[in-house]
Amino acid sequence: MRNFLTVLKRTLAVGAVALAAVSLQPGTALASDPGPHPGPSVVGGTTAQQGEFPWMVRLSMGCGGSLYTQQIVLTAAHCVNGTGANTSITATAGAVDLNSSQAVKVKSTYVLQAPGYNGTGKDWALIKLAKPINLPTLNIADTTAYNNGTFTIAGWGADREGGSQQRQLRKATVPYVDDTACQRAYGGSLTPGEEICAGYLQTGGVDTCQGDSGGPMFRKDNAGAWIQVGVVSWGQGCARPGYPGVYTEVSTFAASIKSAAAGLGRR
Ligand code: ARG
Repeated sequence: MRNFLTVLKRTLAVGAVALAAVSLQPGTALASDPGPHPGPSVVGGTTAQQGEFPWMVRLSMGCGGSLYTQQIVLTAAHCVNGTGANTSITATAGAVDLNSSQAVKVKSTYVLQAPGYNGTGKDWALIKLAKPINLPTLNIADTTAYNNGTFTIAGWGADREGGSQQRQLRKATVPYVDDTACQRAYGGSLTPGEEICAGYLQTGGVDTCQGDSGGPMFRKDNAGAWIQVGVVSWGQGCARPGYPGVYTEVSTFAASIKSAAAGLGRR
């Protein structure tokens, strides 16, 4: 399991996204049960409205992200290759339809992969953009207060396990799954202080999937504003009963993200 998941994550980090990853999975894609929440993507979701999640970003290597500042995208460490100058990534934002003429496209200048990232936990990274994008940003949770309840997930990733990437942004909601249950589901592969799980543990059917990685998992804070609690990281297949989605626990890394972003701001 450990090795398989690591391989999955590495495969995706190379940007091969869905196909190669699913082919690594022993006899699954077609056999998977879509569960009781049918519908289009993320898995088990619906199309997002234009402007509903204005800080959502699509990254050209096939990942999601969120605008942490107007010039810094928060994504997953496994979506990038390391830390350093990087002008090869294009961020697309401002449109639920990636092919829309309204979509804003900006290149990267620098990538900062979470210090100490080695494929287990710490799955976050920052991408500095060549210029600011004039869109709202998404605040990140800096306490554990919001690590519970019902979360929203969104992305342009596969709409089912083994499915294709989506042109239109999709969204869904998933309940929190506690660390004990998630750790049990994954046979000890969870890093509880660094990862937070969500999904319908018993039934599956709703989840993020390949290509959603790096995108935010978020909820409303006590003031009614969206706040990011997770970064899409990994799971066994997508939306399978018994296997919740695993997300980077943003509150754990909020201080590191903040100081890393401040460092990028000076670049
Ligand atoms: N690692 C995947 C990616 O690179 C995300 C997988 C999320 N899987 C899940 N079952 N929630 O896009």
